[in-house]
Amino acid sequence: MTRKLDKETQDALKKKVAEAALEYINLPRMRVGIGTGSTVNFLIDLLPRVAERIDAVVSSSEASTRRLEKHGFKVSELSEVGDLDIYIDGADECDPHNRLIKGGGGALTREKIIAWASDKFVCIVDESKMVDVLGDFPLPVEVLPMARSFVARKMVAAGGMPEYRQDFVTDNGCQILDVHNLKILDPVALESDINQIPGVITNGLFALRGADVTLIATPDGVRVQES
Ligand code: A5P
Repeated sequence: MTRKLDKETQDALKKKVAEAALEYINLPRMRVGIGTGSTVNFLIDLLPRVAERIDAVVSSSEASTRRLEKHGFKVSELSEVGDLDIYIDGADECDPHNRLIKGGGGALTREKIIAWASDKFVCIVDESKMVDVLGDFPLPVEVLPMARSFVARKMVAAGGMPEYRQDFVTDNGCQILDVHNLKILDPVALESDINQIPGVITNGLFALRGADVTLIATPDGVRVQES
């Protein structure tokens, strides 16, 4: 019973922050990137309200694409559209500098590409995602299947505890290591370092290109954290 109420409260916050994000789709003919996850699902369900302002929509996962299509949106390829005006996505953790851990849903690579291709990245979270230092949430690392054990050993050498995400294949046909126990004091350096390991597609740190603004839902309203 308590658990259910907790989820309801969290869902209410997710819906509230998704609603707040709609205000950023505020110009005619916007090219919009849409992320992945339960918070973004609320956004997708509200998106028809601003459909007339959207010229093109690009999605970061097959799951989001299917949901967008159910609402009547035609989803375009990033390569057809070029750079985007805005990208809206959730996060698993967010620090006070809008640096993020993402990839709990496994869509990190497409999410990172779209974040980098967008003029503005608006992150939407409920307050439970806010941390002072990133790393309590295990860091997802997408790897080519043949490199999984090799990358896992490198993660152990770096002080982490990698766990293979069983029975999960990314939209790119790759696998995920969830790396526990990393002390992420310098997320920019760690993001770069992990991405240098052969076989890594990308990791879930969004620090080199963090969010430009994070909207944080609290029971008292939505707080705006600018970079
Ligand atoms: C998907 O791969 C993730 O990066 C999501 O953005 C992140 O896990 C947040 O998801 P929720 O909104 O479901 O918490």
